[in-house]
Order: sequence, then C-alpha cells, then structure tokens
Amino acid sequence: MTQLQDLNSQFLINPKITYLNFGSFGACPKPIFEDLQKWQLEMETEPVQFITVDGFKYLKKSREALAKYIHCDSDDLVYTPNPSYAMSIITKSLKLNAGDEILTTDLEYGAMDKSWNYYCKQTGVKYVRQPINLPLTTKEAFVEDFFKGLTKNTKAIFISQITSSTALILPVKEICDIAKQKGLLTIVDGAHVPGHIPLNLSELKADIYTGACHKWMMTPKGCAFLYVSKQHQHWTDPLVISWGYESAMPSHSQFLDYHQLQGTRDFTAFLTVPKAIEFMNTNHWEVQATNCRKLLQANAQRFCDLLGTKPLCPINDTFLGQMFSIPIHTTEPETLQRDLFEAYKIEIPVMRHGSNIYLQYNIQIFNTQKDLDTLYNALKEIIANTELIQIK
Ligand SMILES: Cc1ncc(COP(=O)(O)O)c(C=O)c1O
Repeated sequence: MTQLQDLNSQFLINPKITYLNFGSFGACPKPIFEDLQKWQLEMETEPVQFITVDGFKYLKKSREALAKYIHCDSDDLVYTPNPSYAMSIITKSLKLNAGDEILTTDLEYGAMDKSWNYYCKQTGVKYVRQPINLPLTTKEAFVEDFFKGLTKNTKAIFISQITSSTALILPVKEICDIAKQKGLLTIVDGAHVPGHIPLNLSELKADIYTGACHKWMMTPKGCAFLYVSKQHQHWTDPLVISWGYESAMPSHSQFLDYHQLQGTRDFTAFLTVPKAIEFMNTNHWEVQATNCRKLLQANAQRFCDLLGTKPLCPINDTFLGQMFSIPIHTTEPETLQRDLFEAYKIEIPVMRHGSNIYLQYNIQIFNTQKDLDTLYNALKEIIANTELIQIK
C-alpha cells in the first residue's frame, strides 16, 4: 500500500489551506488529473475522430467501469455534468397528474427542492417535505417519521442517501423497500455517495438514482451520472434535443441515444472514471475511509461542546460518513465562513438550512488531527473575541 504521506502528496490542494470542505466539489489527485489531460490532448490532436468515433468507445468503457463499481447494467447509466442536470431530466419528463404527491424529507438539497418545485408548478403535483425529527435516533424511527407524510395521493418518493447540510446517511434501502411494496416510484439523490460509502444499485433497487463522481470519487469537475431502471427509461426525455432524439441511426438503446448525444461538448471528465476507480482500488479506499470516519468521530463531541449544541445523530457509523454537521448559533453564517477562510485559512462550509445553521467539517485522507485542532482553536478565538457565534 502507498504510504499515507505519499498518497497525500498526490492531491493538488494548496497546503497552506486547512481544507475541511471536500464534499462541495471534491478534489482531483494528480494521476486522475493527468488522465483528464491525456484525454484532452487526444481530443485536440484529432477532434473529429475523438468526438464522432473513438469517444463513443471510450464512453462505453467508462460506463462499464462505473457500472461494475456501483453494481448495475452499464446500459442503465448515462453521464451528466452534475446531479442537478440528472434530476432535471427526471423533473422535465415525469408524467404525474395534478393532485398526485411526491413524498420527500425536509433535509433535501436546496437545488433539488427547486427542481421539484419547478416540476410542481408545471404539473400541479404536490411536493411533500415531511419534517424529520432531529437528532436522529434509529433507522426505524427515521423510517416511521418519513412515512408519516404518506397519503393516498403519494405516487413517488424522493430522498437523499447522504444529506448535504446535515450530512446524515439516511436508510434509503429500508425506505425504498417499503415504497416499492406500496407501488411508489423511488428516486434517490446520491450526490455524496460514490467513493464515500459502498453503493450497490442492484441491491438498493431504486428506480432512479443520481450520483456525483467529482465529489468523493475524485474525478475532475463535471462528472456525474443518472441511473434509470429499464422499465422507466422509455419516459425519460433528453434535456437537450440533439441528434440522439429520433436518431437516424439508433443504437440498441433509446436511453443512451437520448442522453448521450447532447451536441458538441467536452466529455473528457467522464472518461476519467476508470482511472478514479483504479486509484481508489490500488490505495485501499475502504480502509482509508474507515480511518477518516474514526478521526471524524473522535472529534465530534468536542466540537458540539465548544459550540454548545447537540449532534444531529449518535456518533457512530449508522448515520455518519466523512462529513459532520454541527448546529451552530450565528446570525451571520456567511461572515463566519469568510472569516474562517480569510483570517485562519480554513476552508469549511457554514450552511443555512431553513432556520438552522450548520458548520460542517469533512475528512479526506489528507486531513489530520492538526487540521481539526486548527479549526477548534480558531472557533475558540472567534467565540472569545467576537459576537459572531452565540453560545446558548
Ligand atoms: C445532496 C446533494 N444533492 C445534489 C447536489 C447537487 O450537486 P450539483 O450542484 O453539482 O448538481 C449536491 C451538491 O452538493 C448535494 O449535496
């Protein structure tokens, strides 16, 4: 196994920054970044061959590698630039009737809520944001809470596998199993999942799933995917109408034609997925992730105590991965985030979610106890010298 120090030096992150925000946009290690540059060079050397001939073969190989990694059929996957794009394919295509309901939680990512709000405005469908009791206690209690929002009009469920601002791993398998028994369409937002916690789509059996590769899988930005199970592919419309729509030379899959042929674009980021998977495999990523979770959990209570708040869930692996959100009392989250960066060189999100505010640290393999001590001391100083954080 590569020594941790050597592995850390593979990341391009500025070493002068205490980087505790891996989740927002990931970060690409050198071998994966070099792979991107290799593809881009090949494209610029012979653009016509690359875009119209070889690119399709490369894309197929890349989809096959991703499909193997997340356990699904490679024909049920298409690459998209991000999860918002993937979910917009669904919210632009789904045919429900006015009065039907989509059940979700009040913990979802804001841009996804917007996508569904847009959909509901067009269709008269209702987006039901079921309030979830925090702190979470058990998976069973979560499932019970969630299905309190079920009515006779519910036709679909939408849920994050890992939430964004609250950083909670939700029991989506349990939710999807029950939803399926009730005949509901199951749609899962797994933006933070690939490369973070194991993902097995053939076990999960969600109808629709989106994930980002440019977060925890560490590909370059602009690499995500949409999975749609075979029985639902026929109703998904392309978001961009191009040659793949009613193709003169259809392939074996309308789903691939519709969503892969999107006009001229740079799809080289998609081609780096096999290299990203190889990078994780050769560096025993599951062991690395376990170590990251240990560091995260060892510090969790200490930060809650400092900020005078309670964790959003028990501090163990049930609901926690490599991101930890701490409720914080501040009237100026944007100023606090800016101050932490400018005065202390700490990159960390301070996020609003409804009326709540969360400070969230993320642990990737290059993070150490020293990084968390730097954060702790900075917060202590801010509490002592300013009124930016209130301790209640
Ligand atoms: C839970 C969740 N869903 C979806 C997204 C959407 O990502 P993007 O803005 O790249 O489409 C994010 C981004 O952080 C997220 O955290």
